[in-house]
Amino acid sequence: MKSSSKTATLHALTSRPGTGLEVRLAARPVGLPALEHFEIVETYVPAPAPGQVLVRNLFMSLDPGMMMLMAGGSSLPMPRYEVGQVMHGDALGEVIASADPSLSEGDLVVHRFGWREYAVADAGAFRRVDKAAYPSLSMHLGFGLVAYVGLMEVARLRAGDTVFVSSAAGATGSMAGQIARLKGARRVIGSAGSADKVAHLTGKLGFDAAFNYHDGPILDRLREAAPDGIDVYFDNVGGEQLRAAIEVMNVHGRIAVCGALNRQSTARPDEGPGDLLSVLGKRLTIRGFTLWDHLDRAREFGEQFRDWLREGSIVYDETVINGLHSAPQALLDLLRGRHIGKTVVRLAS
Ligand SMILES: NC(=O)c1ccc[n+]([C@@H]2O[C@H](COP(=O)([O-])OP(=O)(O)OC[C@H]3O[C@@H](n4cnc5c(N)ncnc54)[C@H](OP(=O)(O)O)[C@@H]3O)[C@@H](O)[C@H]2O)c1
Repeated sequence: MKSSSKTATLHALTSRPGTGLEVRLAARPVGLPALEHFEIVETYVPAPAPGQVLVRNLFMSLDPGMMMLMAGGSSLPMPRYEVGQVMHGDALGEVIASADPSLSEGDLVVHRFGWREYAVADAGAFRRVDKAAYPSLSMHLGFGLVAYVGLMEVARLRAGDTVFVSSAAGATGSMAGQIARLKGARRVIGSAGSADKVAHLTGKLGFDAAFNYHDGPILDRLREAAPDGIDVYFDNVGGEQLRAAIEVMNVHGRIAVCGALNRQSTARPDEGPGDLLSVLGKRLTIRGFTLWDHLDRAREFGEQFRDWLREGSIVYDETVINGLHSAPQALLDLLRGRHIGKTVVRLAS
C-alpha cells in the first residue's frame, strides 16, 4: 500500500477547508486483491460550491462486492473502481458546511462517497437520516434491508418454512437468519467457516442448527441439519453450498441469490448450480436480486427493525475498524472470515 501527498498546501486534517485522506485503486488486481492495490492519498478538501455540501465521514461500510469492483468487469449495478481514482462505497457522515438549502450543518447523511474522510458533492447525492433512529449511528450502514427483501420479496418466506442461510455469521446472513425466525420460520439453519461462528449462530443468534462448511461434505452436513428438507435458501455463497441446497430443497422451494462469496473469495468462476433436473423436478425458483431494486421497502423494514431492537428480539453484530489507514487490510480480512456481523470503518468520532 502506498501513501502519498498530492497537494502543496496541506492544512491540518481537522481544519476547514483543509485536507483529508482518501483511498484510491493503485492497480487493478488479477485474482484476489492485496495491499499493493490500494493507495492512500492526502487531498485538498474544497469548500462547497453553490448547491453542494461538505460532509465529514464518520463511518464507511466494507463489503465483499468491493473486491469485484476492484477487479473490474463485474455485473454489479454500480461502476467499477478505476485505477488512480478514489474508490466508492456506502458511508455515513455529518454535514459540516452547506451551500444548499436542503441540508444544514449538523445533519447526518448516508451516501456513496466512502473510502475518504471528507466528501464534497451536490446535495442531492446525500440522504438525511434520523440521528436517533438506532442505538448506534453505524447501524445506518447495516445490511438488514438486504436480508429482509431477499426473504420476504424474493424468496416469498412463509410461516412454517425451513430456511437455510449461508455465510450466516456475516452482515447479511446474521440478519437473514434472525429475520426468518421473527417472520415465522419453523426452523433456521446457518453455515459459517469456524466452530466459534457456529456456536455464535446457535447461541446468541438463536439459529436452530448450524454447521461449519469446512467440516466434510456440505451436502451431508445440510442433510443432518435439515432432515425434513428446506423451503427457502438465502444464498450468500453459491458453489458447493448452492448445489447442496438444491439437493435438499423441498418441492416448490425458493432460493434467493444474494451473493457469490465462493467466487468473490477465490476469484475463480463458479461451477454453477449443478443438477438442473432437480430444479425442474422439484419446481424450484432460483432468483437473483439486488437491494437497489427494492429500496421502496426501506421504510417498512426500518420500522420493524427499530421495534425488534427495542424489544431485544434481534441481535445486531458489528466489527468496527478504526481509521481509514486500516480499511484496505480490513477489506482483505473480511473475505478471510476474520470479522463477524457488519464490518464498518470508523473515520471520525
Ligand atoms: N444482492 C445485494 O443487493 C447485496 C447487497 C449486499 C451484499 N451482497 C452480497 O451478499 C454477500 C454477503 O455480503 P456480506 O456483506 O453480508 O458479507 P459477510 O458475509 O459479512 O462477509 C464475508 C464472509 O464471507 C465468508 N466467506 C468467505 N469466503 C467464503 C467461501 N468460499 N464460502 C463461504 N463463505 C465464505 C466469510 O465468513 P466465514 O468465516 O463464514 O467463511 C466472511 O466473513 C456478498 O456476496 C455480498 O457481495 C449482495
